[in-house]
Amino acid sequence: MLEGHALVDDFSIQLEAGRVHAVVGESGSGKTLSALAVLGLLPEGAAVRGSAMRGGVELLTAPAALRRAGFAMVLQEPLSALNPVLSVGAHLVETLSVHGARGDLRAAALALLAEVGIPSGEERLKMFPHQLSGGQRQRVSIACALAASPQVLIADEPTTALDASMRGVILTLLRRLAADRALAVWLITHDLHAVRGASDEVTVMYAGRVVEHGPTAGVLESPRHPYTVALLASNPAGAKVGVPLPTLAGAVPLAREVIAGCRFHPRCARVVARCRVERPEWVEDVACYLAHGEGA
Ligand SMILES: Nc1ncnc2c1ncn2[C@@H]1O[C@H](COP(=O)(O)OP(=O)(O)OP(=O)(O)O)[C@@H](O)[C@H]1O
Ligand SMILES: [Mg+2]
Repeated sequence: MLEGHALVDDFSIQLEAGRVHAVVGESGSGKTLSALAVLGLLPEGAAVRGSAMRGGVELLTAPAALRRAGFAMVLQEPLSALNPVLSVGAHLVETLSVHGARGDLRAAALALLAEVGIPSGEERLKMFPHQLSGGQRQRVSIACALAASPQVLIADEPTTALDASMRGVILTLLRRLAADRALAVWLITHDLHAVRGASDEVTVMYAGRVVEHGPTAGVLESPRHPYTVALLASNPAGAKVGVPLPTLAGAVPLAREVIAGCRFHPRCARVVARCRVERPEWVEDVACYLAHGEGA
């Protein structure tokens, strides 16, 4: 993306109405930048090349209003998305109004709260963000996103700020909304285990590149890239007392670090000579020589 070095290279994703597509990877792998690149919200000085098509329209060269129309975003920390001095009702009514809704906006706001599973909507409309629990806040920020009647909902780590029991609830809600509203959901998370049952497809990123993609159930059952295998192995939920949790040694390289060949090779348990010199091609949804029958 940046002249000189690419923070994200060869990113590709296909979103479909009614389906959740999860993008998974460790911190710094480029999950957020990829989404911001499509929306035209990259930091100053960053450039993007390539193509982002929606319904036959090239978004990357479209004027900002057209480019972002139909998209809504839900962020990790709902408090930063909500205005502390506005009531829940004011948030929803204002968003509905800005996005062209007419008629009884209060009734529309109540319907949105019901849709995201907030009971006693009348009372909640009067409340302020700090008076809600974390889970309720995230539901309100999802309701605000829906108030824009999006076709695509980008949810960037929507559950990281929540406690464990609430995470599954919010992911289930997103999947139901995708189905009910024929909404395409682009779900960003660092937790590959969390996407089980929560997404239809998964794209795994490592250090700015996509390493594997496929239907979620298939990738979780038979991961093909050693990075996906390592992510699945380091699952605290499957930990046994007295047995050390498998971890992936090392850290994601810095964006500016030049690594020849496969960017994962310094951490890969199955590295072969070729991985150190040549970047693996993207073949049949995976970028790894081993998956392509080499070096076994
Ligand atoms: N404004 C910026 N200026 C320079 N580099 C940046 C900027 N924003 C992000 N980067 C770099 O781009 C890379 C990808 O960042 P990105 O935020 O997309 O990662 P991420 O996968 O979303 O990580 P996280 O899980 O921590 O949110 C990182 O190496 C990061 O340091
Ligand atoms: Mg991010």
